[in-house]
Amino acid sequence: MASLSFSPIRAKPSGGDFRPFRRQSLARPSRVAFRVFASEGQAEPDLSVTVNGLHMPNPFVIGSGPPGTNYTVMKRAFDEGWGAVIAKTVSLDAAKVINVTPRYARLRVGANGSAKGQIIGWENIELISDRPLETMLKEFKQLKEEYPDRILIASIMEEYDKAAWEELIDRVEQTGIDALEINFSCPHGMPERKMGAAVGQDCALLEEVCGWINAKATVPVWAKMTPNITDITQPARVALSSGCEGVSAINTIMSVMGINLNTLRPEPCVEGYSTPGGYSCKAVHPIALGKVMSIAKMMKAEFGEDYSLSGIGGVETGGDAAEFILLGANTVQVCTGVMMHGYGLVKKLCSELKDFMKMHNFSSIEDFRGASLEYFTTHTDLVQRQQEAIRQRKAIRQGLQSDKDWTGDGFVKESESMVSN
Ligand SMILES: Cc1cc2nc3c(=O)[nH]c(=O)nc-3n(C[C@H](O)[C@H](O)[C@H](O)COP(=O)(O)O)c2cc1C
Repeated sequence: MASLSFSPIRAKPSGGDFRPFRRQSLARPSRVAFRVFASEGQAEPDLSVTVNGLHMPNPFVIGSGPPGTNYTVMKRAFDEGWGAVIAKTVSLDAAKVINVTPRYARLRVGANGSAKGQIIGWENIELISDRPLETMLKEFKQLKEEYPDRILIASIMEEYDKAAWEELIDRVEQTGIDALEINFSCPHGMPERKMGAAVGQDCALLEEVCGWINAKATVPVWAKMTPNITDITQPARVALSSGCEGVSAINTIMSVMGINLNTLRPEPCVEGYSTPGGYSCKAVHPIALGKVMSIAKMMKAEFGEDYSLSGIGGVETGGDAAEFILLGANTVQVCTGVMMHGYGLVKKLCSELKDFMKMHNFSSIEDFRGASLEYFTTHTDLVQRQQEAIRQRKAIRQGLQSDKDWTGDGFVKESESMVSN
């Protein structure tokens, strides 16, 4: 959500060291050398990433949802330059998936509720794909034939049934898709069938289902996490320990968009009734950053570099994406942003991300991935740091402690520090 020029809130002008990030603080000689080369040669930043062995021209991935519902739109995504596409979630029996309309409701700000206000929140009560699996599989196959070098990821979901999961994985893999994302996170409709978030919210169930999936799958598997849980690191840890190569976070946040004050009926209103749905768009970005930060810290402490993290939630600018990457995300997914701005959004995202990288002299995504993670600490530590900073500032204000502390460069300031008026 933040634009590239964000201003940290400081208690006092001298209350913190917010100097621009310098890569020298990370001891990776090869990257430092790269940085020097970039600043001298003015090379274009390289946005390409390789994640779980999958090479993408940029880290921008179409998130599972309407922008990946059929051949035409997925082809469009590849043509516009998206780094990868995750298709709309499929299951074995699409006949059980019955959608309603309207199924979206939006939150606007900035114009006192007027229809012209900027959209910042989006609720949906849409289910997974209601198109026959056979049709979706044919389209995956056709896309992989036409775009063999591009990354197509199938999103899948099934009931609590080992044989059903195995059949789905087998059929989907036969199309030539590059990876699987498991939807353990849809908050509405599907949990009523013990699917989606019903599995992602129950670590014992999740471990069992991940075990079935990873015993069968031959391509990388990403587990998509629900934010509708107290501690998102718990299911993320279970998924990775059970063989998944990566986690994606977040899916939508359980929400009620609002109540119509004239009709007293909730929105989105279907025949006078509604059901809680999933919240997405700009408003969820800070919540998504918080969840991704927690998962990234856990992954850094407990898992190696081979595991991947895909950040999702409210991305509309290159700066939004940079934030996820600074927390450790390898890729960044966009769903609602595409529904609002179209597939051409990827060009703006790439150019804004490059601007950010040029500003810092970063040559590659790996140059800054995870760089902000070390600045998260406990509140107790913040208190100690602040007390120490105040103690040091007081000591400076009280003047030099000893005559041996006088310096040539700071002589005038040092003299002033001991003046009383
Ligand atoms: C209309 C709509 C349908 C969605 N359908 C799916 C889905 O089928 N499978 C899935 O894993 N996520 C689905 N999502 C969730 C998105 O992939 C994404 O996790 C979430 O919306 C947050 O990202 P965003 O703010 O970029 O949309 C859907 C989201 C929306 C708005």
